[in-house]
Amino acid sequence: MNNVFADSILQGKVAFVTGGATGITGGIARAFFEHGAKLAITSRKEENLIAKKQYIEENGGECFTVVSDVRDYAAVENAINAAREHFGKIDIVVNGAAGNFLSPASELSANGFGTVVDIDTKGTFNVCRAAFESLKETRGQIINVSATLHYLATPMQIHVSAAKAGVDAITRNLAVEWGRFGIRVNGIAPGPIEDTEGMKRLLMPELRDKLLRRIPVGRFGRIEDIENAALFLASDAASYISGETIIVDGGAWLLGTSFS
Ligand code: HXC
Repeated sequence: MNNVFADSILQGKVAFVTGGATGITGGIARAFFEHGAKLAITSRKEENLIAKKQYIEENGGECFTVVSDVRDYAAVENAINAAREHFGKIDIVVNGAAGNFLSPASELSANGFGTVVDIDTKGTFNVCRAAFESLKETRGQIINVSATLHYLATPMQIHVSAAKAGVDAITRNLAVEWGRFGIRVNGIAPGPIEDTEGMKRLLMPELRDKLLRRIPVGRFGRIEDIENAALFLASDAASYISGETIIVDGGAWLLGTSFS
C-alpha cells in the first residue's frame, strides 16, 4: 500500500525524530509522515515506538524505530547509523527528546539539574553531532524543540530554562558553522500546549484558568500548532531561514512564563 497521506511537501524525505513516539514530537513525526516523509523515530520506551510504528505502517508509511537514550552518544550514533543504513540517507533531524519536572531551585539536586541538561542540551548536541555527516550528504536540516521559559525567568524551572537556553545556543551556533554545508538549523519554542506530558507535569489544575487568561490569542496551543510550524521549517518555503527559533505560543511569553 502506498502512503495514503503522501503529498509533495516532504515527499522522498527521511526524518530522524528523537522522542518521536509521543507528545509534541510524536505529533511532528506523524505530520511529517502525513506529508510524505519516511520516518526513523527513537524513544527510551519500546512500547511507545511500537504503537507509532503500527499507526504509520497501517497507513502505508515506512517507520524505522530504535530504542535509544539521547544522553548516550554511542547509542545515538548507532541509531543514526542504523537509520541511515535502512533508508540510505537522512534529510531532517528533529530533536524532541526532553525531560521535565517542577522543582524549586533550593530543593533541586545537582543530579536533577544535570539530568535535564543531559537529556535536553547534551542530547541535542549528541544527535546533531552524530547526524552531521549524513546531513552534509543531503544538505539537510535540523529542528530543535525548545521552550520560552528562559526568555524571562520561570520559577520551578531553572533546570529546563538552563537546558533550553543551551539548546537555543546550539541552534544558532550550528546554523553558523554548518550553513556552508547547506545544513539549515532552526528551533521551535512551544508555549502552553494542551494534551502534552509537559502541561500535565507543569500546570497545576487550579492555575489553568489563570494561565488561559494570560494567553493573548485566548486559547491553549494544540499539538497541531507545533506540527504546522515544523512543516513550514522543514519545507522549501523556509529555505532561507536558519538559526531561528520560531515561538509558537499565542503571544504568551510576552506576559511572562511564570505559571503562578
Ligand atoms: C525533583 C526530581 C524529580 C522531581 C526526578 N528528579 N524527578 N527532582 N522533583 N519530580 C531528580 C531525581 O531525584 C534524580 O536526582 C534526578 O532527577 C534523576 O532522576 P531519575 O528518575 O533517575 O532520572 P530519569 O529516570 O533519567 O528520568 C528523567 C526525568 C523524567 C527527566 C527525571 O521525568 C523523564 O524522563 N521525563 C521524560 C518525560 C518528560 O518529562 N517529558 C516532558 C518534557 S516537557 P537525585 O539527586 O535524587 O539522584 C518539556 C516542555 C518544557 O520539556 C516547556 C513546557 C512549557
